[in-house]
Amino acid sequence: MPSKIAQIRLVSSHPEVYEPCDDSFALVDALLADQTNLLMYNPKLCMEVGCGSGYVITSLALVLGQGACGAYYIATDINPHAVRVTSETLEAHGVHAELITTDIASGLEERLAGLVDVMVVNPPYVPTPEEEVGRDGIASAWAGGENGRCVIDKILPVADKLLSDRGWLYMVTLTANNPSEICLQMRDKGYASRIVVQRSTEEESLHVIKFWRDSDDILQANEVGAVNKTGPARIFESLLSQFPGLLFGRNSNSSST
Ligand SMILES: C[S@@+](CC[C@H](N)C(=O)[O-])C[C@H]1O[C@@H](n2cnc3c(N)ncnc32)[C@H](O)[C@@H]1O
Repeated sequence: MPSKIAQIRLVSSHPEVYEPCDDSFALVDALLADQTNLLMYNPKLCMEVGCGSGYVITSLALVLGQGACGAYYIATDINPHAVRVTSETLEAHGVHAELITTDIASGLEERLAGLVDVMVVNPPYVPTPEEEVGRDGIASAWAGGENGRCVIDKILPVADKLLSDRGWLYMVTLTANNPSEICLQMRDKGYASRIVVQRSTEEESLHVIKFWRDSDDILQANEVGAVNKTGPARIFESLLSQFPGLLFGRNSNSSST
């Protein structure tokens, strides 16, 4: 399957659509690194928020397959040109996803609440002045406001609402986004986390973080390549080792329960 991913072609483009870049590749590499677990998990509904060119959702559909044994795919983007480019990328690779032009998952919350097994997000994460966030065009692909967190902080509660009881979220973050604080915030919502891919480029240091509900830790303990083998306490210890600067949150003691 990795060879198919490597062959993903940029069949369509638009000056206002984000072309696959280091962050897109890191996210797909994380999915490939977790491929064995994903195949065992056998998700039924997968979703990408901010699909851009379609490189990630197409890769995910190729990794997991479609049809009777595979998953159903949904992807959103606020940029209508991105939705069109994604449609052409999917079609050129023989896979299908339902595509919706919307802000994060606006209008889909009721329909998808508690149903999404896998969510993937490469959000606009670059620290910028707040007024650059949500502008039309290509700027919406990267402009993340203060600490690059403006869109990320809107996506997290939506993810929490849409993810199923066994739901997994893979999200790209930048060091400037304070990923350890994001993990603590998600931990308060009941999610464990681990870094699946960490990558430094000349310009940025990226993490692809996987989040899953703590109740799922038995499954996670059996995962291939799992860092955390014995539940939430170890998961949090692992998080501390991954983010040495991590500050303890309000509920940090509950990690040992
Ligand atoms: C960094 S690009 C990632 C594109 C693609 N997923 C990839 O990895 O190559 C971020 C994408 O999120 C989209 N986006 C930004 N704000 C959004 C929002 N509020 N709701 C949905 N999509 C959004 C942008 O239009 C852009 O396509």
